[in-house]
Amino acid sequence: MAEKLNGEVYYPSEEVISYARIKNWDELNNFAKKDLQNFWAKEAEELFWFKKWDKVLDDSNKPFYKWFTGAKTNIVYNCLDAHLKTHRRNKLAFIWEGENGEWKTMSYHALHRETCKFANVLKSMGVQKGDRVTIYMGRIPEIIIAMLASARIGAVHSVVYGGFSVESLAERIEDSQSKVLIVADGAFQRGRIVPLKKIADEALERCGTVEHVLVVKRTGQEINMEYGRDMWYHELMNLPIASNSCALEEMDSEDPLFILYTSGTTGKPKAILHTHGGYMVGIYTSLKYVFDIHEEDRYWCAADPGWITGHSYIVYGPLLNGTTSFIYEGAPNFPYPNRWWQMIEKYGINILYTAPTAIRGLMRFGEAWVKRHNLSSLRLLGSVGEPINPEAWKWYYKVVGNERCPIMDTWWQTETGMFMITPMPSVPLKPGSGTKPFPGIEMDVVDEKGNPVKPNEEGYLIIKTPWPAMIRTVYKDPERYVSQYWSKYPGVYLTGDSARKDEDGYFWIIGRVDDVIKVSGYRLGTAEIESALVSHNAVAEAAAIGLPHEVKGNAIYAYVILRNGIEKSPALIEELRQHVSHEVGPIAKPERIEFVDSLPKTRSGKIMRRVLKAKALGQDPGNISTLEE
Ligand code: WTA
Repeated sequence: MAEKLNGEVYYPSEEVISYARIKNWDELNNFAKKDLQNFWAKEAEELFWFKKWDKVLDDSNKPFYKWFTGAKTNIVYNCLDAHLKTHRRNKLAFIWEGENGEWKTMSYHALHRETCKFANVLKSMGVQKGDRVTIYMGRIPEIIIAMLASARIGAVHSVVYGGFSVESLAERIEDSQSKVLIVADGAFQRGRIVPLKKIADEALERCGTVEHVLVVKRTGQEINMEYGRDMWYHELMNLPIASNSCALEEMDSEDPLFILYTSGTTGKPKAILHTHGGYMVGIYTSLKYVFDIHEEDRYWCAADPGWITGHSYIVYGPLLNGTTSFIYEGAPNFPYPNRWWQMIEKYGINILYTAPTAIRGLMRFGEAWVKRHNLSSLRLLGSVGEPINPEAWKWYYKVVGNERCPIMDTWWQTETGMFMITPMPSVPLKPGSGTKPFPGIEMDVVDEKGNPVKPNEEGYLIIKTPWPAMIRTVYKDPERYVSQYWSKYPGVYLTGDSARKDEDGYFWIIGRVDDVIKVSGYRLGTAEIESALVSHNAVAEAAAIGLPHEVKGNAIYAYVILRNGIEKSPALIEELRQHVSHEVGPIAKPERIEFVDSLPKTRSGKIMRRVLKAKALGQDPGNISTLEE
């Protein structure tokens, strides 16, 4: 890749190239372009299948694409069982550190055993293939065991992020009709306890499907255990039913592996469905090439298992690649701003994958906290979740990576399952750009009519080719799958992001163009925040928007119309903020709430958030011809 690129470019060093698995990105990309199916089939061949596929890609019923049809597999076989026959049997699957400093390691052999034991527990609760299981925990090893155990027996897991609260959890349990909930008593967060079981108890009063609650003891405070419904994980794991071996369910390639709720353009969060076969091939391949996983690596994805980044690149991707992962329970700056750097040094981490918001947050404390530690083990850095501003990119590159470690800025979504726009270590980088689409994936930036825009012009980001880890449908709502993603431009997947493409074909993400707000990299919908606000008895109407924030990327601003006779006061503002936190979760707590007498609406009654945003930013609201008043 000796070509000369425009703008500020960071070319890979000789050292980086000589170590990289893919030294010539163009070659791999050309191969994938020429023969998409063969490209993915070759990758799939590296994994184990009980029965091989008849067809790599079945596109006879677009946009309901199918991958590796006719094949039989189970992702858990490739995550665990396959490694037990190799030298990886004794390799560490993960090293875990609690926020309180305790640590634990687990070999592939041990993780397989614990997964089997818990799979047997789930079976004894009557969980069967296709049943949904909700999981609600912090970053502890048991969350991984619970996910793998469900998948092993063919159940469909639905993980709810531990930062969500009562209504978010209740809504997701109800929609998925889970009969089993796996929860922790609490989670440590900045030295405090998040009372997960208490939140779950409240959520269970609002939804009616759960028969069994299995409780992992983590924080140890007094909790309510409902007789006949609630059982301790550690007690169940000691019973004879929790035997060390558990037959694995042979799954159809297209059988569901998990659902994961995420915020969309309108209405309630929707459950994105991913499958055993295609998802497995997509994330195995993307992690292998992008973070260039080597056998001796210690890899750390600092996301949460409760989001797609955690599903794909803490749990399944690393295990498929037989990687040793590091997992940390707590906050980056607790008890001091050097916590992360200390652990990188202590455990000799080679790859760090995190979000721009964390980088900006740590940057604020100054580089002295970083420089105290020897971070020479680091080889690669990664970023995900929101656009990374060049200033944060350069700090990450210089201060954390010591100008040696390429930054993999990976653009993707819950729906894509895997990295879509991303460099590989040998690719020249431009700070703030995720470079180009992954081999085999064609993307573009188009105007309202679907025509490609000129270089450097803003437009809608779209995906033109199917890929194995793609969303299969919105669970229980196939029409929404079609209307939200495949209807604006026929045959083309709409991402919901706006972007630019420069003269070198590098993509630059601008942000969401719909009602999704990215707060600290977390994906929230205006609808969730608004419906939490109007569930408070003082509120008649509410509108939420995201405004730029130095560390969080975006912060939530809410505009509230009070019911007749309710008095405006600062205390009520605080009460409403707390209410949103209690209903949706602390991550959704509005930065500011303003009382207003009216909201800008279209004649059909839709709130024009665009107008609110323009006004807050002192900008021209653009076309307001549909505005009612
Ligand atoms: C945004 C997270 C810029 C984007 C994996 C996308 C990014 C949404 C990047 C999906 C990135 C993710 N640069 N923006 N590297 N990665 N995004 O579903 O707006 O939680 O549509 O998946 O995050 O968020 P989700």
